[in-house]
Amino acid sequence: MVSRKLHRPLTVAGEGDHRFIWLGLDEADMEKGILANQYLVIHNGEAMLLDPGGYFVFQRVLQAVSEIVDPANVKGIFYSHQDPDVVGSLNLLLDFFPNAKIYVSALWSRFLPHLGAIANLDIVEIPDEGMNIDLGGVSLQAIPAHFLHSPGNFTLYDPETKVLFSGDIGAAVFPENEWYLFVEDFEKHLAYIEGFHKRYLCCKKALDAWLSRVRGLELEAVAPQHGAIFQGEKAGRFLDWLSKLGKIGVDLIY
Ligand SMILES: [Fe+2]
Ligand SMILES: [Fe+2]
Repeated sequence: MVSRKLHRPLTVAGEGDHRFIWLGLDEADMEKGILANQYLVIHNGEAMLLDPGGYFVFQRVLQAVSEIVDPANVKGIFYSHQDPDVVGSLNLLLDFFPNAKIYVSALWSRFLPHLGAIANLDIVEIPDEGMNIDLGGVSLQAIPAHFLHSPGNFTLYDPETKVLFSGDIGAAVFPENEWYLFVEDFEKHLAYIEGFHKRYLCCKKALDAWLSRVRGLELEAVAPQHGAIFQGEKAGRFLDWLSKLGKIGVDLIY
């Protein structure tokens, strides 16, 4: 039985008018599927939600965002891909964040109405090659990460804080009764991420393509949708670990 503990939102990087914020956690969420992180990028009073999650986390996410910014100023929702732990709360989001455009791979835009969302659905299709997304004057970069794991999949780089939101890349699955937000013991943490990366990510070729895109970025942190954040030098160590992972996904299975 997981103890019920509510963690408050926390600024991961940035200060003042521009911040990259983790939106907290209710440990009881662990009992409702895989534990997921949600983030908010705020710039000059306008905000973008990153992978806001499924039905059960929505109330906490709404509460956290409302304490930071007027929901009317949430101008965008970025979906790294189409999984239920990413898009499951879409209907609720459209009701409470009426001015948010939905940024999602062009491969997945026509699937979203199946969540029952048609009215107010303002979709911006991200093309395969990625795009820059304007948030109040700052240009966030949607970087292709196709087949890691979804065929239409993007990570998002914030050049102001130098945080790379990595979606499912970097995901950790914690053992029962263990959780932390920032990776401290890198070697120990590998045991919690290796299984996911070898089974869910498509293949070494896809991983190498993404690594070649993000290697040149200045990185303060890599922030995944599941598990813990790689801060400082651990961001580079994580990319190094990925580059040496060898065979994954279809490389192993077929
Ligand atoms: Fe996923
Ligand atoms: Fe996920």
